[in-house]
Parts: sequence; structure tokens; C-alpha cells
Amino acid sequence: MKSLFTILVVALGLFAMSTACSPSKDSEKTPTEEASAPSTLDTVQYKKQGMEIAMGTFKVLSGQLKAAMQEGGVKNAAQYCNTVAYPLVDSLSGQYNAQIRRASNKVRNPKDAPTPREQEILDAYHAQAAAGEQPKPQIRQLASGEIAFYAPIMMQDLCLKCHGKLGETLKAEDYAVIQELYPEDNAIGYEAGDLRGIWSITFPAPN
Ligand code: HEC
Repeated sequence: MKSLFTILVVALGLFAMSTACSPSKDSEKTPTEEASAPSTLDTVQYKKQGMEIAMGTFKVLSGQLKAAMQEGGVKNAAQYCNTVAYPLVDSLSGQYNAQIRRASNKVRNPKDAPTPREQEILDAYHAQAAAGEQPKPQIRQLASGEIAFYAPIMMQDLCLKCHGKLGETLKAEDYAVIQELYPEDNAIGYEAGDLRGIWSITFPAPN
């Protein structure tokens, strides 16, 4: 019950953060010609929905991850992530009627490599993070009419066991297992508080 309360408090905090930024300011930073911010009212609504989905997905993923780590350590959890993370996010996409993706400049799963539009958002977020600013959730309307939501994914202590600095927070023996599963892995070297990547959630075009 207490943890549920904590989640609620965190959720409200994040929601407050996501709506605190002024939508009109965001819309000035349109990254491409064909993308533009929808009306102020929609922006607030879509941001709320996007945050709910991102947090819901994160909750499911990290809950399963913790359980797998408790059961069989980091190696077990890495194998578990390998088989479950992608299909799980995919099935949540169906449940929420929105396409849910995660993308990063340094990917583990090649399917999470950024699209050109995601790359623009990643570049902007990384520039903000480098300037000491906290990147904020963003809404874009695509040329197709679909609505895209983006939000930063930040590193926490727990994440470093699989994404941290090799030989320090990330044990060599654990990384050997990860590299077997992902020979091209690039997703290490992070510290807590680093920008890891983005949520990229696409809603169908409104009627
Ligand atoms: C037990 C190991 C493990 C832990 C702990 C872990 N991850 Fe991962 N992470 C993985 C694996 C494995 C993948 C690839 C999943 C796939 O194939 O879809 C991944 C993929 C990702 C991706 C998708 C981008 C990419 O590189 O493919 C993001 C974003 C991510 N992790 C963030 C996090 C965050 C944030 C945390 C902490 C809350 C975390 N991870 C904790 C193993 C882990």
C-alpha cells in the first residue's frame, strides 16, 4: 500500500513537472518542417496521456526486472530482458492503442536505434542535459496527423548493474552474459542521473 502511494506521489510530481512547462514555448522549437505542435489544449492532454503510458510501461518493466534479479541475479535478469522487454512493450502498445518505443544514442537492442525524428529529439535533450537543464516531455503532430510524445529516460542506480561503467558498477562477469545476447551492445558507461534515451510514443491521428 505504501509503495502504491509512493508511485502516486511520484506520478503526480512528474505530471506537475510535465505540465509546468509552457506549451507555447515548446511549440517554438519545432524540429522539422512537417512536424508541428497541436493546439494548447491537446498538448496538455497528450502530455498527460504520454506520461501515463511511459510510467505504466516503466512500472511493468522495472517490476519484472527487479523480480528477475531477485530470483537469479543480474545474469538471469539480463536474459529475461532479452526475451521479454521488447514483446512486453509491444503488447502494452496494443493495450494503450499507441505505439510505444524506447530509443537511445547508445543502443543495446538494434531495434531501438533512433529514427531521424527521434534523433532530433535526442540531440535536443542531450544538449539540454549538457547545459545542466532537465529535458522536458514534448508533443509533436506528425505530417500523417499522428501525435508523437517524447520524454527523457534517466539512469538510476539500479540501471547501472547492466548499463554502468565496466569493472565498476557493471561487473565483467555480468557484462559477458549481456554481450553474448547483444554482441553489438553500446549501452554502457552510464552514471546515475545521465540521460539514457527517450520514450517515443505515437498516438493515432485524432478524428
Ligand atoms: C538486468 C539488466 C538490466 C537492468 C538492471 C536494466 N536494463 Fe535496460 N536493458 C537491458 C537489456 C537486456 C536491454 C535490451 C532489451 C531488448 O532487447 O529489448 C535493455 C534496454 C534498455 C533500453 C532500450 C534502449 C536499448 O538500448 O535497446 C532502455 C532505454 C533501458 N534499457 C533503460 C534502462 C533503465 C532506465 C534501467 C533502470 C531503471 C535499466 N535499463 C535497467 C538490461 C537491463
